[in-house]
Amino acid sequence: MAKILVTGGAGYIGSHTCVELLTAGHDVVVIDNLSNSSAASLSRAEQLTQKKLSFIEGDIRDATVLDQLFQEHSIDAVIHFAGLKAVGESQQIPLRYFDNNIGGTICLIRAMQRAGVFKLVFSSSATVYDESNASPLNEDMPTGMPSNNYGYTKLIVEQMLEKLAAADDQWSIALLRYFNPVGAHKSGRIGEDPNGIPNNLMPYLTQVAVGRRQKLSIFGNDYDTPDGTGVRDYIHVVDLANAHLCALNHRLKTQGCRAWNIGTGNGISVKQIRDNFEKVNGVEIPFEYVPRREGDVATSFADNARAIAELGWQPQYGLADMLADSWNWQKQNPNGFNES
Ligand code: NAD
Ligand code: UFG
Repeated sequence: MAKILVTGGAGYIGSHTCVELLTAGHDVVVIDNLSNSSAASLSRAEQLTQKKLSFIEGDIRDATVLDQLFQEHSIDAVIHFAGLKAVGESQQIPLRYFDNNIGGTICLIRAMQRAGVFKLVFSSSATVYDESNASPLNEDMPTGMPSNNYGYTKLIVEQMLEKLAAADDQWSIALLRYFNPVGAHKSGRIGEDPNGIPNNLMPYLTQVAVGRRQKLSIFGNDYDTPDGTGVRDYIHVVDLANAHLCALNHRLKTQGCRAWNIGTGNGISVKQIRDNFEKVNGVEIPFEYVPRREGDVATSFADNARAIAELGWQPQYGLADMLADSWNWQKQNPNGFNES
């Protein structure tokens, strides 16, 4: 068993990963500045697992806090989720994204180096692939220039980490390229709780279902896809969380820097998501077609063979679970972690 530092552990994917790490018997230390999350997710993770974790409310850009943390805890590896992820905001305030996502990662890896910790799992994204690649996307395909500044920060960090590992073979780094995380823990106690109007499809859809929003806007029905709406690879957040444990096991034993796609390999359209959500959950989802959203591609889904072969990982949940678990979380927590 290992002691794992989870940056951004109070967030959506981080809190689910903390549950899986604690369940597997690891010790967990979380650092999060709570800029996009609530500490309630961590107490619920503790309740779910009947285990304790250590929580430091702090910023990964604060070298003093990081040094103190590494002195107090004998960390074996780091899973790095902390970052900002709002695509639209990244276009309006690019420097905030460069500072947090790129600057924050540099500050973290410097502190890791000072502490002699060289195992890292990084949250990357399918957005790093060049748009000219046809799906299924595999890790040997070229990366490109992402259409937004958020994606750009992911690409820069990936490249930085590759160069770092090439220069110093003490490093062992996993770049996990997530496709579209959805769903929630089966209990409905933790889940996705975005601030303000959700940018992403699933939280928007569940907020329509719970009555917080009137109807779903489907961005474009004139794509070159079977029903004209955008196709994505939705992956259950618990499967995604488990991919981190598999990557961690792999990286604890090997050197270098390597990328793995984390998706199911199935392309599902927006209209299919909406229709299946109604069918699986028995709730009505009013919708309208509106023009395409700038920067969206028609189709993006993974070739996940490398992760299955090398990490010993396998997605367990299908679309019906993703839709049922997203709804279960939202229904039980209509206002997210804000219970008032
Ligand atoms: P999230 O916003 O729920 O979690 C990120 C967490 O990081 C939050 O708790 C936030 O408070 C914290 N944080 C942000 N900046 C920080 C800082 N400087 N210091 C300390 N804590 C900080 O997002 P998520 O969906 O759980 O995503 C986790 C990671 O996965 C992010 O890096 C994100 O870019 C990446 N990712 C997410 C998706 C997605 O669709 N959710 C897709 C691809 C990649
Ligand atoms: N969509 C709608 N209506 C909405 C929201 C989304 O029709 O209200 C559509 C989009 O046009 C797209 C699909 O639903 O076809 C999925 O959109 P999301 O915003 O949920 O996800 P994206 O695929 O655009 O983006 C995700 C992550 C990003 C990441 C990107 C590429 O949110 O962090 O994948 O990997 F950069």
